[in-house]
Amino acid sequence: MAASEIIKLMDRSEYYLDSPPTTDHKKTLQGKTVINLFYENSTRTRTSFELASLKLGANVINMTVDSSSVKKGETLIDTAMTLNAMHPDLLVARHGDSGAVHLLADKVDCSVINAGDGRNEHPTQALLDALTIRRYKKNLAGLTIAICGDIAHSRVARSNIYLLTKMGARIRAVAPATLLPSQIQKLGVEVYHTMAEGIADCDIIMMLRLQSERMDSALVPSKREYFHFFGLDSRFLALAKPDALVMHPGPMNRGVEIDSVIADDIRRSLIRPQVEAGVAVRMAVMESLVA
Ligand code: CP
Repeated sequence: MAASEIIKLMDRSEYYLDSPPTTDHKKTLQGKTVINLFYENSTRTRTSFELASLKLGANVINMTVDSSSVKKGETLIDTAMTLNAMHPDLLVARHGDSGAVHLLADKVDCSVINAGDGRNEHPTQALLDALTIRRYKKNLAGLTIAICGDIAHSRVARSNIYLLTKMGARIRAVAPATLLPSQIQKLGVEVYHTMAEGIADCDIIMMLRLQSERMDSALVPSKREYFHFFGLDSRFLALAKPDALVMHPGPMNRGVEIDSVIADDIRRSLIRPQVEAGVAVRMAVMESLVA
């Protein structure tokens, strides 16, 4: 996606974020059907897509794997073909395998939004993160943003690196070697293996969860030791710029990658504004595809 298209989506999201609901909003997707198809758990993404659909007047169907025929062995492709036969206007899909949502999009007639596929991408998360940063820092270009933690398994990190570098931000990847994908430098980021160096003079610190569910073996000695070296606490935050802000896509593991005191400090933490931006961003994205 070109930078101009990203800016257009952020501007429209900001409009939705700042305006009270109107009857015109409700007409945007009136009579349209959105299916949320989530093969992985979600709190923020699924709920915000549902809320965004309702705010735009769409009919929403939530399909979770536990209550579907996937449990009887139906494949992703057969599930996609079945849903396609019901003629939805939009599919919002999350899957544990990288590339699965792309595969699904090839099999259906409507637009498909990637709500997170494996360790590959989570584009609407990156959009909402960029919008949140822009609202608090005015510009994305020229900012130094440290993405810290389990980058190897993080679709959020990958989507943010693509988007934020395109918008002119300087990205640092801060993690132990075991939690970095090979050849991460090719994505245009600077790599740091200590929090002290990686966070120094940053404008934004984006913390990531250890995604144990995607690990084949133990990649950190212990959660306690990990927190000591890579958890964001006041020691490390003091090394960033005095007005540096902290982000986390959620879900958080308090005391593992972030200290509760920082996560809950409304002067430094953007975690709540990130969630608030999520609904508006998903409204703008769905409108751009269906209206
Ligand atoms: N940030 C995010 O994707 O959170 P959920 O897994 O709760 O949707």
